[in-house]
Amino acid sequence: MKKNYEKQIDSLLAKMSLQEKIGQLNQPETPTADNEEAFMDLVRKGLVGSVLMSVGATAGNDPQGSISVDFYNRIQKTAIEESPNGIPVLFGRDVIHGHKTVFPIPLAMTASFNEELIEQSYRDIAQEASNESVHWTFTPMLDLCHDPRWGRIIEGTGEDPYLGSVVAKAVVKGLQGENVGESDRILACAKHYIGYGASEGGRDYHRTEISDYTLFNYYLPAFKGAIDAGALTVMSAFNDISGQPITSSRRYLTEILRDKLGFQGLVVADYDAVCQLERQGVAESEADCASMALNAGIDLDMHDFCYLNELESLVENGKVSMETIDTAVKRVLSVKFEAGLFDTPYCVPKDYDKAQHRLHSREMAAESMVLLKNENHLLPLQKSADIALVGPFATERRTLLGSWMLDGKERETPNLLETLRGRTSGTVESSNGTDLSLDRSLRWMTHADVIVLALGEKWTDTGESRAVSTASIPNSQIELIRRAKATGKKIVGVLFCGRPVVIEEIADLCDALIYAWHSGSEAANAVCDLLFGDSVPSGRLPVTLLRSSNHIPLYYNVTSSGRPVNCYYGENPGECYVDSLPTPYYPFGYGLSYTEFAYGDICCNTPQLRLEDLKNGQKFRFEIDLHNVGDFDAKETVQLYIHDRAASMMRPLRELKAFQKVFVKRGETCRVVLELGFEDLGFYLPSGEYTVEAGKFDIYIGENCLTPRKTEISVL
Ligand code: BGC
Repeated sequence: MKKNYEKQIDSLLAKMSLQEKIGQLNQPETPTADNEEAFMDLVRKGLVGSVLMSVGATAGNDPQGSISVDFYNRIQKTAIEESPNGIPVLFGRDVIHGHKTVFPIPLAMTASFNEELIEQSYRDIAQEASNESVHWTFTPMLDLCHDPRWGRIIEGTGEDPYLGSVVAKAVVKGLQGENVGESDRILACAKHYIGYGASEGGRDYHRTEISDYTLFNYYLPAFKGAIDAGALTVMSAFNDISGQPITSSRRYLTEILRDKLGFQGLVVADYDAVCQLERQGVAESEADCASMALNAGIDLDMHDFCYLNELESLVENGKVSMETIDTAVKRVLSVKFEAGLFDTPYCVPKDYDKAQHRLHSREMAAESMVLLKNENHLLPLQKSADIALVGPFATERRTLLGSWMLDGKERETPNLLETLRGRTSGTVESSNGTDLSLDRSLRWMTHADVIVLALGEKWTDTGESRAVSTASIPNSQIELIRRAKATGKKIVGVLFCGRPVVIEEIADLCDALIYAWHSGSEAANAVCDLLFGDSVPSGRLPVTLLRSSNHIPLYYNVTSSGRPVNCYYGENPGECYVDSLPTPYYPFGYGLSYTEFAYGDICCNTPQLRLEDLKNGQKFRFEIDLHNVGDFDAKETVQLYIHDRAASMMRPLRELKAFQKVFVKRGETCRVVLELGFEDLGFYLPSGEYTVEAGKFDIYIGENCLTPRKTEISVL
C-alpha cells in the first residue's frame, strides 16, 4: 500500500460499520433485468465493493452483452451519492487478449518473443477497456502448462518459467503503466495462483500434485515477474495442490505469496471458489468456507456471496477477527485509491486511434505466427499465383478471435478468403469453408498453382472447461490434406489453433506450414502478410509440438535421469518407449524465417566469476555475431539456455535464461549481447531459498532449445 493513502484509508475505516466493511469484500456479477433492483439496493447500502462485469461461471465461452457505460456510471453514482460512506465501486472484466480490437490469444502473443510488442498490445487493450468503464482486468494468466489437452493452455504463456515471467512483466506494464490511476490504464491481475495449469490429465479444475521444488522453480517465477512489475492484484486458483485447496491455504496465499514473494495487493477468489470449498470436502458449511478463505488470505469474494452472508456472525462468534476483516478491506480500498477511483470514479469515453490499434494487432499477429516448414522455399507466394483456398477455416471469422473474447466483433473480422482475394492478382477459388465432400474443392485444387489449406480447431474447443482427450485437429481435416496431397500440387497449411496440437501427420503432408493460432481481429491480414512476404515470419514456439498425444507430457526443460543416458527430450529411441519415438516434432523455441541466419562463435568476457562478485552485480557477458545470409530483412530470436552441470538438486538439461529478438537486414551482421547474473544462474531449494552454487555451467546460444552451439562458464 502506498503511504499517502494510509491516512485516508484509516479515516474511512473508522467510519465504516462492520456490514459496510464486509460489503467491500463482496463482488457480485452484473445484474440481469430480474435482479437489478435488488442489486442497486445492495449498492445503496454499501454492500458491493466490486462488480464482475459479466454473467456466468465460464464468461469466456458464453456470449456477454456489450457494456453499457451509462449503466456502470449509474451504479457508481448510486454508490457515491447514496451509500453510507460514498465509496466507489471497482469494475472488473475479463479483457484477456483484447477489447474491441482483438489481439492474438496470449499463448500466441508469447510466441512473438517480443516483450515490447506485448506491452504495446496491452497498452491498447487498457485504453479501449478503460473507455468502457473497466477498471480492472483478470489477466495475465500465468499458469505454466505441460498438457495441451487442457483448454486453458491458450490463455497462458506455455511451458517455460522464464518466458512466462518476461511476458508477465510486459503485460502488467502495458496495462498499469507507471501510474494505474491515469484514466486510460487498468489494473492487472496475475492468475490463477497457483498450479492450475497442472490439472491432472489436462482435465479442468482437477487436482494437482506439485512438490515445493517444482512449485518454486516452475510455477512461481511468472507470478514473481508480475509482482515485481507491480501487479496490484492476484486471483487465486480453483485447484488444490496435494489435497490442499488454494482457496483455503494460508501457506500458499499468505506465507508464500505475501511473505516470500512480497505481494502486498489484493487477492480475489476465482468465481464461486470460496463456496466450492464445501464441494472440495474441506468445509462443512458456507460459514466454514468464508472463515477458511478469509483467514487464508482471500480478500475479495467473487460472485458467491459467502462473505456477505457469513462474515458478520463469524466476527461475532470469534472465528474471524476484526483485524483480519480490516486488513482485507484496506487492501480493497488501497487498490481503489491506486486506480484513481476516488478522484475520477466515472467513465467518460474518449476518442482513440482505432486504426492504429488494428495495425498493432496485425503486427502482433504476424510476429506470433510460427513458420514450421517451408520446403524448397515454397513461401512466400507470388502475388499472381492462382490459389485454391480450401478447408473449414477459409471463411471463418469467430474462431480467428479465439476464446476469452468478450467484446470484439465477428463482423469486423475479415476472413481469409476475402482477404486473400484482395491481396492477389491471381484467382482465389474456395470451397464452402465447411464443405469437405471435396468434389468442388478437388476441382479447384487440381487447377490452382498452389493449395492453401485453412485448418485448425474451433474456438469452442478451447478455453475454460474445454479440455480434449486428444490434442489434434479432426480426422476429416487430415483426410482433406491427404486428398490435397494426392493432386500433386504444393500445399501450404495454415493452422488456426488455440492449443498446441499434435503435428506429425500434418507436417509430413504439407510442403509449408504456418501455425497461425487464433490471432485476433487482424489474423487473416497477418496470414496474408506472411503468405506473400510482406512480413517475414519470426514467431517461435513457446511450447513443444508433439508427434502424438500419447507423449504428454513432453517439455524441454527436464532433468537428466540416471539411466538411460542421452535421452533428453525423448532422444535415444527405444529407451523411452519401445513402440514410438517420443522426441518433439518441433522443439521449444523453434520457428523458421524466409531468410537464413548464420551464427558466429560465442565470445564470453570472462569464463569465470566468483560467486561473491556475481552477488555484487557482476555478470557473464556473451557476444555473438548474427549474419543474415538469406534474401530477406528479418527478425531472429537469439536464445540463451543454461545447464548447471552438478548442483545439490538435479537441474534441467536446458533452461532458457535470456533472449533477444533482433532485426537484421539481409547481407548484414548484428552483434548480439546477452548477459547472465546472480538472478539467472541459481534455483530455488525445496525450502524456497534461492541459491547459486559454484561449479560449471554449459551455455547454449542459438535458434531454439536444441541448438548445439555451446560454451562453458564457471562460478568459483
Ligand atoms: C475463471 C477466471 C475468470 C473468472 C471471471 C472463472 O471461471 O477461471 O479466469 O477471470 O471466471 O469470469
